[in-house]
Amino acid sequence: MCGIVGYIGSKEKRGFLINGLKELEYRGYDSAGIAVLKDNEISSFKATGKLTNLDAKTADFSSEGFGLGIGHTRWATHGKPTEINAHPHWGEFSYVIHNGIIENYKEIKDTLVSDGVTFLSQTDTEVIVHLFEKFIKIGENAFSAFEKTIASLHGAYAILLISKKEPDVIFFAKNAVPLIVGRSAENEIFFSSSDAPLIGWAKEVMYLEDGQYGWAKCKELSLFKSLKTQALNFKALSQDKILAQKDGFRFFMEKEIYEQSIVVGETLMGRIKDNSIVLDELKDICFEDIDAIKICACGTSYHAALSASYMFERLSKIRCSVEIASEFRYKQPLLDTKTLFIVISQSGETADTLEALKMAKNANMKTLAICNVDNSSIVRTADFTLLTRAGIEKGVASTKAFATQVVTLWLLALFIGDKKQNISQELMRLEIDALLHTPLVVKVNEIVHEKIRRLSKRYLHGHGFFFIGRDIFFPLALEGALKLKEISYLHAEGYPAGEMKHGPIALADSELFTIALMPKTLLYDKMKSNVEELSARDSTILAISPEPFDIADDFIKTNLHTHPMSEFFEMMVITQLLALEISIRLGNDVDMPRNLAKSVTVE
Ligand code: F6R
Repeated sequence: MCGIVGYIGSKEKRGFLINGLKELEYRGYDSAGIAVLKDNEISSFKATGKLTNLDAKTADFSSEGFGLGIGHTRWATHGKPTEINAHPHWGEFSYVIHNGIIENYKEIKDTLVSDGVTFLSQTDTEVIVHLFEKFIKIGENAFSAFEKTIASLHGAYAILLISKKEPDVIFFAKNAVPLIVGRSAENEIFFSSSDAPLIGWAKEVMYLEDGQYGWAKCKELSLFKSLKTQALNFKALSQDKILAQKDGFRFFMEKEIYEQSIVVGETLMGRIKDNSIVLDELKDICFEDIDAIKICACGTSYHAALSASYMFERLSKIRCSVEIASEFRYKQPLLDTKTLFIVISQSGETADTLEALKMAKNANMKTLAICNVDNSSIVRTADFTLLTRAGIEKGVASTKAFATQVVTLWLLALFIGDKKQNISQELMRLEIDALLHTPLVVKVNEIVHEKIRRLSKRYLHGHGFFFIGRDIFFPLALEGALKLKEISYLHAEGYPAGEMKHGPIALADSELFTIALMPKTLLYDKMKSNVEELSARDSTILAISPEPFDIADDFIKTNLHTHPMSEFFEMMVITQLLALEISIRLGNDVDMPRNLAKSVTVE
C-alpha cells in the first residue's frame, strides 16, 4: 500500500512532500522518492528504507517560489525494493508516481521496447511515463497524451505525472486506489492518498471517484471521467490526524477488515488471464518433479495453510501436509526433495517459520514463501516468493493478511492443478468465477456489522466459546476463535464440528457459547446434527448461515452462494467483526492486545 503526495504552489516543496510522506508511513513502505519541477528544471531524489534516508539525501535541497512537487512511498509488488524501482520514474522530460498495479503493463512494455524505449526499472509504473511521452512524440499535446495514456491502462492506480511540456501542471488519475485533491485559501493545490498529510495545509478536499482524471494548475482544476467534464465536489477537511490515519474507523483492525475488498482485488490483479492462472514468479519451478506439498507456518498463517491443504488435495490433486513451524523444527522430520516446501508469513520475520524454511533448504527441497513483506528474511531465504499484497497490517490481530494469504493459496492450488493437468477447463472456469467474486464477498455489509455490534453485548461473559465448522470451515473456526481470544481475552477454541462428541461436548451448558459456521454448499446436514447435539445440552448457539435455524439462540444470515469459498470469505468477515465488537465492548485495546507482538522474531 504505497503513499502519494503532490503540491502546486510557492511554498518550499520538499518540506510538504517529506512531511506528507511521513504522515503516510502507517501505510507501510520500503523506499521513497520525490521530484520537484521549478523553472523548467526537474530535481529528483530516491532512497530505500526509512524516510530518514530520503530526508538526509535532500537536506541541502530547497525550492522556494512557484513550482510543482510529487512524492511517493513504495511497497514493492513488481520488482525488489531497490532505489531504481523506487518512484518517481522518468522518461526524457516527464516524471510519474503511481500506487496500485497496472495489469496490462507487460503488453504495453513489449510494444514500447519494440519502439526502442529503454526501461530502467522492473516496475509496472514505468510504462506510464514512456507511454505518455510516446503520445507526445507522435504529435499529441500533453493533455490528450495523458488522456490517451490513462485510457490504455487496465488495473488499479492513483497517478501523478509532471512534465516539462506543461511546467505548471500536475496530471492525475484515480481508479480503485484512493486519491484526494486538496485546496488552500491561497489557491495552493495538494494531492494525497489520505487526509492525514493535508491537515494543517488544505482547507477543503475532494475525494476522487474511480475513473476520474484531470490536470491541476494553481488556480485551475479540470476533472473528467470517460472524456466528460465532471463537477468539482470539495468539502471542508476535518483536522483530526489520528482519525485521518484510521480513515475515520475506531481502530486499525476495523479499517483493515473494511480494506479486505480492495487488497484481495490487488492479490488477484494480473494473476488471472483468459481462464488460466498466471504466476510469473513461479515460472522456473518444474512441477513434474514435485509430488507433494508441505506447509509450515504459525498462528493465523497456519490457519491459512490448513485451509489450503483442502484446496491442494481437491484442486491440484497433490498430497499436502501442514505443520506448526515450532513443532516441525524439533520433530526430526523426514524431508524429501520431491516435496515443495511452502512457508506462509505475514511479516516474513517469524523466527520459527524462518528456521523451518532453513531446514528445508538444507535438505535441498524447493522452497516457496507466501509472504506480505518483500525483502523480509523469509523472502530473502526462500527460492521463490508469492507476495500477498495486503499492504501494511497495523492491527496485531491479523485480518486482511489472512484473507490475502488464502486467496494467494487458492490461486496457487489452481495453478499447480493446471500444471499437473488435473483441472478441467470447466472446473477452472467455475473456480476463476468464484475467485473474481471474492472482493465483493469480503466487502463489509454495514447492516450485518450493525447487527453484530448489537449482538455482541450478549457474548461478554460465559466460560468459553466453541467455534465449530467442518471441512475448510474448520480452519476458519480455528481462526475465528484465535481472533476472539487475542483481543477479548475470553477463552475460545476452534473445533471440527464432528469432534465435539468425542470429549469437548462435556463442557456444554448455557454459559458455553457455540459459534456455528453452517454453510449451505458443504455438509450442511452434518453440521446441523452437530449443532443440535450442542443445543440439546443447552449450549447458547449463534448460527451463521444462509438458512435460518430454529434452535439457534442468535442467527446471522449470510448470502446464498454457489461456491464454498464464497461462504468461507463471507463468514470470515463476520467472525472478524464479532471479535472486534466484543473486544470494543470489553474496553480492550483492539490494535495492541496485551502480551502480543506483531512480529514474533524469537522462539
Ligand atoms: C494472529 C496473528 C499471529 C500471526 C503469527 C505468525 O492474529 O497475527 O498468530 O499470524 O504470529 O505471524 P506471521 O504471519 O508474520 O509469520
